Amino acid sequence: MSNTAGHRHCYRLCSTYCFLILVAPTLTAALVLDSITPTQPLAGGDTLVSSGALFELGFFTPENSGRWYVGIWYKEIEEKTVVWVANRDTPLINATGVLKIGEDGNLYLVDGGGNNTIWSSENRQGTRNTVAELLDSGNFVLRRENDREEEDYLWQSFDHPTDTLLPGMKLGWDSKTGLNRYISSWKSATDPAKGDFSFKLDVNGLPEAFLRKKDDIIYGSGAWNGIRFSGVPEMKPTDVITFSFVTTKDENYYTFELHNRTIFSKLQVSHSGYLERYMWIPTNRIWNKFWYAPADQCDNYKECGPYGICDTDISPVCKCLVGFEPRNKQAWDLRDGRDGCVRVHDLNCENDGFLPLNYMKLPESSRAFVDTAVGLDECMAMCKRNCSCTAYTNSNITGGGSGCVMWTTELLDMRQYTAAEGGQVLYVRVAASDVGTFPFSF
Ligand SMILES: *[C@@H]1O[C@H](CO)[C@@H](O)[C@H](O)[C@H]1NC(C)=O
Ligand SMILES: *[C@@H]1O[C@H](CO)[C@@H](O)[C@H](O)[C@H]1NC(C)=O
Ligand SMILES: *[C@@H]1O[C@H](CO)[C@@H](O)[C@H](O)[C@H]1NC(C)=O
Ligand SMILES: *[C@@H]1O[C@H](CO)[C@@H](O)[C@H](O)[C@H]1NC(C)=O
Repeated sequence: MSNTAGHRHCYRLCSTYCFLILVAPTLTAALVLDSITPTQPLAGGDTLVSSGALFELGFFTPENSGRWYVGIWYKEIEEKTVVWVANRDTPLINATGVLKIGEDGNLYLVDGGGNNTIWSSENRQGTRNTVAELLDSGNFVLRRENDREEEDYLWQSFDHPTDTLLPGMKLGWDSKTGLNRYISSWKSATDPAKGDFSFKLDVNGLPEAFLRKKDDIIYGSGAWNGIRFSGVPEMKPTDVITFSFVTTKDENYYTFELHNRTIFSKLQVSHSGYLERYMWIPTNRIWNKFWYAPADQCDNYKECGPYGICDTDISPVCKCLVGFEPRNKQAWDLRDGRDGCVRVHDLNCENDGFLPLNYMKLPESSRAFVDTAVGLDECMAMCKRNCSCTAYTNSNITGGGSGCVMWTTELLDMRQYTAAEGGQVLYVRVAASDVGTFPFSF
């Protein structure tokens, strides 16, 4: 990222305020602002800095691009790390734009000519006397002048993420606003326009987040099981970070929190199609890649097809559930598992049994049936009674486990972990003759 904006900032400040800097240095401190008001817009070279100096908002231009954007980046990190872009799809052609509050109380980015609106906050509430403040969380919020209540924000950048999820941001659904907040990649390292890749929560069945290339799913996180996404056993809470999934009457979202203000963390969709978590290591002053997906063959969505299980500890990586055989033997032998597996012995419903599979990533669950009020025994009974039920397990593995999730479709996108990695038990329906056999056929 170029530093031109910063330089302009200096020159402009200097030409206007040099005499002040010489005669009254304390006055210059007052020039660091964290807010825009109706009478105090933000012009091209200037920036806002959050009160604790964690984040900065201003105009920037990716290297040699000739395009200008309003964005937010970390104040203290020398290598500009942009976490949010207002006008990602509508760049300015120079840095002479102005970010201001319009007569209707909304935020407007207008170009140098002053007449063309490049971007706006579109809050439609028509509230006057608004203030747009950059907070230390990295959230840029539009609020009434004397109202700092979070519920009353008229608009906030956290509701309109770019490619990055910061601590406290929500990935997911708000039924009051109808927003399903998600992150989407830049087009390239120097073009923040919306790229092909996105990471979005699906709240049907058990909540699960999917990484997509355009409309095609390329990676599923696995269902949220009360502690983590079941396909991300590495997601263990530590002293540094906690992950949570929040379900209320109006909201369903994933979020995370850091416990030490000097350590930064961000979850991001890269322009090359990876979901990546970075940690800022304050002592070494680098962004360290902490986790990413897809990381191996078994992270590829539906790698082993229906009723197939992917296991990186075996070669080839696909195996069929017990009682199943490859649907397309030739492709399977040539290590293309996508056609999956078919049942060898027909089920007869009444006499079927269930096999527990340990350390599993749960099957894709968007069409699964969930009842948080019943336990595992009742769950098994419900599954057994329903002849189309193919598998069941607890919907929440916190403590001893609770709730019931039941699949009545093909089982897709399953993965086998080791005891050390984690994963959870899945009970799959098999013919009576397959009960008690080794849980996999090869
Ligand atoms: C900047 O671009 C605007 C159009 O977006 C144009 O009206 C203005 O003249 C340009 N200013 C400079 C200094 O190039
Ligand atoms: C899972 O169970 C725990 C303990 O009973 C509970 O606190 C938590 O809210 C549950 N999580 C979900 C997503 O239902
Ligand atoms: C936070 O991190 C800093 C720098 O790494 C360390 O010095 C400090 O002790 C940590 N604070 C807490 C509360 O862990
Ligand atoms: C089985 O369960 C599914 C999902 O809840 C339901 O749609 C279906 O009607 C049930 N079938 C029977 C026979 O109960």
